[in-house]
Amino acid sequence: MNINFKIPSFTLFPYEKDLLVREVFSISNGEAKADFNKRIITTPDDNTQKIINIILKKSTFIDSVYLGGKELKTIQRLIESTTLAGKKRQSTRYLTHGMHEYRGKFNPQIARSILNILDIKPGSFLFDPFCGSGTTLLEASRLGLEAYGCDINPLAVLISKAKLNAFRIHEDKFIENIKSAISFALKNKSLSKSSSREEYLKAWIPSDILIFLENYKSFCNNFEHPEVYLIIASNLIRDYSYQEPSDLRIRRRISPFPKRHISIALLEAAEMLQEKIVFFSKFENFNSFSKATIEVQDIRKYQSNDRFFDVALTSPPYATALPYIDTHRISMVWLDLIAPAEIRPLEESLLGSREITKNENRKFFSELEKYYNILPKQEVLMCSKLAEALNEHDGFRRQAVPALILRYFYDMHKALKNILSMMKPGSSFALIIGPNRTTLGGTEFRIDTPEHIASLAQNVGWRKKELIALQTYKRYGLHAKNGINSESLLILESP
Ligand SMILES: C[S@@+](CC[C@H](N)C(=O)[O-])C[C@H]1O[C@@H](n2cnc3c(N)ncnc32)[C@H](O)[C@@H]1O
Repeated sequence: MNINFKIPSFTLFPYEKDLLVREVFSISNGEAKADFNKRIITTPDDNTQKIINIILKKSTFIDSVYLGGKELKTIQRLIESTTLAGKKRQSTRYLTHGMHEYRGKFNPQIARSILNILDIKPGSFLFDPFCGSGTTLLEASRLGLEAYGCDINPLAVLISKAKLNAFRIHEDKFIENIKSAISFALKNKSLSKSSSREEYLKAWIPSDILIFLENYKSFCNNFEHPEVYLIIASNLIRDYSYQEPSDLRIRRRISPFPKRHISIALLEAAEMLQEKIVFFSKFENFNSFSKATIEVQDIRKYQSNDRFFDVALTSPPYATALPYIDTHRISMVWLDLIAPAEIRPLEESLLGSREITKNENRKFFSELEKYYNILPKQEVLMCSKLAEALNEHDGFRRQAVPALILRYFYDMHKALKNILSMMKPGSSFALIIGPNRTTLGGTEFRIDTPEHIASLAQNVGWRKKELIALQTYKRYGLHAKNGINSESLLILESP
């Protein structure tokens, strides 16, 4: 039978069109095929209703299908339309995905779609070794996969927990709790004892806001799932601090403070979240969400003798990664996740960090032989070519790039090996990876990080299944040519 379908009113990226077609095939167990250009899904006559139900439940990019003279919207489209953006463009902040900013967060649709095309059975065990703010974990839970995520950044872990636990707070309790915490915080005008933590916070947060936040926090700590309440407030800290909100790095504020009091913004953020959750519960039962466990771990050091995961999906840090810690350091100190003195060491220890000492830089190249023995030859060779391109006009940052890339390859080698040790035989591991560019000695180098990661993975025993370019032409930009940002989807398989 031929069923017509409709796509959303915003333009889909070319790779999204491909994923749409692959999803239909995969979620129907190969029984249905989509023709994107004709907007038709062909199903076997005796199974049409069942297949259409699965498509309505699981498809990521289809807007609606026409059956029996009716237009039926997919659940994904209905849920996305809870946000203002979702009505006109693809919303990435539906459900609890928008609870807290996190740099490098990937779009939830891609996580959902990849899980669909990997054709994993409900009840399977998913692993996200660089889980960040929990995008994969939330989408996996929705699809009925038990999930385990880890990240070296304790804020990432807390955000992930909050995103997954916000559904578990009773609808009537949530706003009531927020209101009592806010009124307690507005009444109490004193700050507790002074410590290096308070000194640090006082330097970055105006005292009336800090008093409010400290009292709010102490009240929320008595609730079940306090992280949900704290993460909502943490997401506002940047706006209400002396930190410039528009800057990735922590810099002194130049833009004016918001006009309304933080308590009003906090209540509004909670109410918006509540609205999304309530709307969502009309279409999906979050009691059927699978369990997710999230922990702070450094994946370079974390391994196991048990091969328990059925599938893995992640977006690892870039070769010269974003300043994940620095960006959120006020929040992290406020949340007691880190002491001010630990900020720098943690940032430096991140896989892909841009921080490297002169000594470490030198050491990498004096020990090149060692890396030739551990890593595939072509990756080490590329780093030494980068080093040869340097000249005296390159400043300290540029001089460090070849060693940074080599260290990144070495760390990714360790991570890929450890992840493999935990995967069941024959399981898939999907990674979204972006390329890098650098100019050394006046020459621009494009580093094909996805190909390099594939090579590192094969070197530690993974099999390469697919490497697909995700041509992200700017959806609303003027010139597609300028908008190309070719991230790739790499799919590996464990032996
Ligand atoms: C690209 S982000 C992941 C974003 C995530 N997909 C999301 O949607 O929020 C990469 C993550 O890797 C984490 N990371 C860096 N080094 C790590 C390590 N050694 N072990 C585990 N996680 C690490 C960073 O803290 C960051 O959260």
